[in-house]
Order: sequence, then structure tokens, then C-alpha cells
Amino acid sequence: MKPFTIAIDGPAGAGKGTLARRLADHYRLNLLDTGLTYRAVAHALLQVGLPLDNVSAAETAARQVDLAKLDRAVLSAHAVGEAASKVAVFPTVRRILVEKQREFAKTPPGAVLDGRDIGTVVCPDADIKLYVTASAEVRAQRRLAEIESIGGTANFAEILADIQRRDERDMGRADSPLKPAADAHLLDTSEMAIEAAFLAAMAVIDDVLAKRDKA
Ligand code: DC
Repeated sequence: MKPFTIAIDGPAGAGKGTLARRLADHYRLNLLDTGLTYRAVAHALLQVGLPLDNVSAAETAARQVDLAKLDRAVLSAHAVGEAASKVAVFPTVRRILVEKQREFAKTPPGAVLDGRDIGTVVCPDADIKLYVTASAEVRAQRRLAEIESIGGTANFAEILADIQRRDERDMGRADSPLKPAADAHLLDTSEMAIEAAFLAAMAVIDDVLAKRDKA
């Protein structure tokens, strides 16, 4: 049977990472957070002090990305995410990373991939496409709560401005901008807990699996 693919796209902070993990566990699929691949490129440049618009250095770093060695603890820093959004505008960098992401998706029994362009570019033939979103205000509020829960302090207005800037860059770039695929199921988590989003996603997926089994 062809590997089963679940594509999850959406803006930063909408809850797609948590949802992707829950779905990969439940359906026993491989999991790839494609944001980490862009973060790895950005991190490599930051580490040696190269500017983020050095395209040839970014290409070299992209070629060196090893999907088995993505270190979430190092790559999850906020500044790395910001920098990742900047290197992600370069088409040649994207092509190198997309190639690796497609290879990953092909590995049996299949995978859940989350990012910005999975349903539109990386896996346009995915069995399931989900577009997970939430208002910028709700995402900023969640981020603030997350920072405060680990004893940090932050300013809501600054977080909100940050999120809006990131959205603009990810949705406004010429190559593979963030947008829902025409056949994506929309999940707005603004007023939905992650558990409810998980149940809604499961209903969609189980329906597709039942039809696939009958075919
Ligand atoms: O999901 P994240 O915050 O880890 O992603 C970091 C940046 O990487 C994001 O702002 C844009 C870029 N990205 C992308 O362009 N395409 C993807 N499939 C995943 C991430």
C-alpha cells in the first residue's frame, strides 16, 4: 500500500505541532516538523555569524541538514524561528529541504508532516490535508501563557506584533507562501482546545481511512 500522508499547515502558534504529534502517535505514523529543517539552516548561519541573506551559505547548510539529527531543544529558541522565516524565502534553499521532506514522507508506513507548504507544495497528493489556524490575538495569548508558565515575563503587545510580522513574511513570500490548499480541511483552534481539534481531525481521517479500506 502507498504510504499514508497527513499534511498539516498553518501559522506559527496555532497548535499544529501538538496536533501533528498526537496524530502521529495515534495512527502510528512517522512525524516530521518541517519548521525544524528551516530552523537548522538558520541556526547554522547564526552560529558562524553569517548574515541570513547569504544564499550560498544557506544552500550549503540546507544540503547538510540531516532529518535524523534535528535537535529540537537547540532549534526551538525564538530567535531561531525568526531567522528561519527569513532564510525560508529563498527558493533554492526551499528546493533542497523540500526534496528531503518528500523522501521522508515516502518512507513506510507514511507520515504526518507539519509546516507551511506541505499540502500545497511538499505533498500535494497527501491523503489528508489540515489547515490549522487561530486568530493572532489568541496565538499571542497562548504564547504569553507559555512564557509565564515557565516563570518568564513578556509583553502581550510585543508578542502580538511579532506574530503578525511572522505571518506577513510567511504568507507574503513569493515562493510557497503559507495558504490553505484548495482541498484542505480548516480547523480554527481560536475557541477550541487541542483535544477538540484532535477529535475533529480524527473524524476526518477515520472517514478517509474507511473509504480507502473499502476501495
Ligand atoms: O513552524 P516553525 O515556527 O518552526 O517554522 C519556522 C519558520 O520556517 C517559519 O516561520 C517559516 C519557515 N517554514 C517554511 O517556510 N515552510 C515550512 N514548511 C516550515 C517552516
